[in-house]
Amino acid sequence: MAYENIRLEIEEAIAVLTIDRPKALNALNSKTLQELESAFNSLPTTVRALIITGGGDKAFVAGADIAEMASISSAQAREFAALGHRAFQTLEQLPIPTIAAVNGFALGGGCELALACDLIYASEKAKLGLPEVSLGVIPGFGGTQRLTRVVGKMRAKELIFTGERLDAAKAKEIGLVLEVLPADQLLAHCKAVAAKFLKNGPLAVSQAKRVIEFGADQDLRAANELERQGFAVLFGSEDQKEGMKAFLEKRPAGFTGK
Ligand code: HXC
Repeated sequence: MAYENIRLEIEEAIAVLTIDRPKALNALNSKTLQELESAFNSLPTTVRALIITGGGDKAFVAGADIAEMASISSAQAREFAALGHRAFQTLEQLPIPTIAAVNGFALGGGCELALACDLIYASEKAKLGLPEVSLGVIPGFGGTQRLTRVVGKMRAKELIFTGERLDAAKAKEIGLVLEVLPADQLLAHCKAVAAKFLKNGPLAVSQAKRVIEFGADQDLRAANELERQGFAVLFGSEDQKEGMKAFLEKRPAGFTGK
């Protein structure tokens, strides 16, 4: 499908999705959110890892589009937030690992987009934050909830109440990003991490993500039950037989995803 504001490139089962409106620092307008939702819903089944990054050399995504939001009503704001939530939830529930390659400003909706990915890596020049209160609103694409789950309630409150932008090193210190890379190595690093996932059983990686995601919002007993179910289900797969046989035969496994 032809998109206006995003680009999707697929190479050896790794998809790189670039949000590409550099003149507006890749701000998320409705059109871009719709394109994202559509791209997430129609990823080819051959894709086994997704990397999201920003076009141009300044921004990952500088937020939801302020020009579009400036004069909308409460009802329209509800719809706009719902569109973003839908797109990001689709992203979060993809059955493959997802990585945010934060190559510059990841503010407001941009930070929220990164938070909907499984892993976040950042370039040395990245700046992350949720500055919505400086505009008289609050995060509306899941940031109040996802940031809190990643860095804890008190850090999330500090960041959201101050609206402060963190540099990459500070973001790493508080656990908001995993690693900080020189700008010209960020994408290669993310691809190398994705390539490691690709060596493993795809059903197992997918099941691990599902159990972690769904378990995180449940009490420990219910979450552990999810794990037990996921563990058992995999014993009905060819990959489990191949993975264990390959170990015993001292050879690399040839997983098929079946
Ligand atoms: C629309 C944006 C934008 C945004 C930048 N631009 N961010 N347009 N929405 N979020 C546009 C600018 O208007 C400008 O357009 C061009 O991109 C370049 O930006 P500059 O400000 O000139 O660049 P610079 O001085 O380098 O400053 C970079 C910046 C700043 C610090 C990132 O642009 C900034 O503060 N942006 C807004 C960040 C923000 O508040 N994000 C949260 C949005 S609220 P022109 O035409 O002048 O060249 C949000 C809510 C999510 O995300 C939930 C919704 C439901």
